[in-house]
Amino acid sequence: MRILGIETSCDETSVAVVEDGTRVLCNRITSMQDEYAHTGGVIPEDAARKQLEAILPVLHAALAEAGAGPEQIEAIAVTRGPGLLGSLLVGTTCARLLSSLWEKPLIGVHHTLGHLSSTWLDCNEQLSFPILTLSASGGHTDLWYRTSHTKGTLLGSTRDDAAGEAFDKGSSVLELPYPGGPSIARAAEEGDKSIFTFPKPLNDDDTLDFSFSGLKTALKYTLADLEAPLDDVRNDLAASFQHGICLHLIDRIERAVAQLPAVKEIHLVGGVSANTHLRSLLAERVPQKTLRHPQSLRYCTDNAAMIAAAGYFMHQENGPSVCTNFETRASLSLEEVVVD
Ligand code: KG4
Ligand code: ZN
Repeated sequence: MRILGIETSCDETSVAVVEDGTRVLCNRITSMQDEYAHTGGVIPEDAARKQLEAILPVLHAALAEAGAGPEQIEAIAVTRGPGLLGSLLVGTTCARLLSSLWEKPLIGVHHTLGHLSSTWLDCNEQLSFPILTLSASGGHTDLWYRTSHTKGTLLGSTRDDAAGEAFDKGSSVLELPYPGGPSIARAAEEGDKSIFTFPKPLNDDDTLDFSFSGLKTALKYTLADLEAPLDDVRNDLAASFQHGICLHLIDRIERAVAQLPAVKEIHLVGGVSANTHLRSLLAERVPQKTLRHPQSLRYCTDNAAMIAAAGYFMHQENGPSVCTNFETRASLSLEEVVVD
């Protein structure tokens, strides 16, 4: 089944064509990130205008690259939330229009289910449930126990900032460009992670929740107490701060693995899964399980291929009833992602 995916929830405009939730025929992404590098983050109204300018050129380029027209597409999947409402509306309006013009079923996808599906893209191996998935991005940090693509339990979530948001806020404190994840990771490569120590969030708490605001505050205090100029210690601070975030994420995964021996694989998804320090530290700490992350960095951050894949799996597991009318929503509850 060939699905056209559309993702416009934030500052990427993306259109993809994916076969059977796995084979990516094209995955076009236009990002506004360079334009927001020095604004400290996305400006919502401006992002919606940019989505509007980008959507048709990206759609044409994607269809040309896939060599696909309406005859080759069986359904359309689009992110219906959560995200920036103006940006989301550009994608969902385009998807509704195509669905009506081409007479194809339309599937509204929760953005997080897209990330959860991203490890299947271009993957030639058979993946086995139950899977423990950490989905960490700029908007959410969730730990899932999944028994199928659309069934499972949310084990823990962030109580304040998301992990990606911690990188983004940290980068602005360190005077590094947005988005913070890649710029902190780059600075960290030149730094020593043992120079500064960060607190372990929720260390005595026996839930599997996350919290990142304490790490951000600790970074601010460390900076305020510095005796050396920031330029001299920026890389060490970036490395230590990144290490603190990764240790917290991995601590929750280790606790979950101890509680759930049936878990066969651990998946890291979402923008933060692009972090190479996180990947190698997890492999070191949890050697007994199969670890996976998306096959390409382009599948870690927001992209339409993961939305097309999620649409396919929703259809495969729940049938044509997933092709119903939906509301485009800036906030959307997690119960609408994966339900036990
Ligand atoms: O999934 P995503 O593209 O968008 C949301 O759904 O939010 O994630 C973007 C987030 C940003 O906060 C960004 O700083 C973070 O992912 N990110 C990273 C890396 N690349 C992107 N965080 C850590 N290390 C990276 N290499
Ligand atoms: Zn995302």
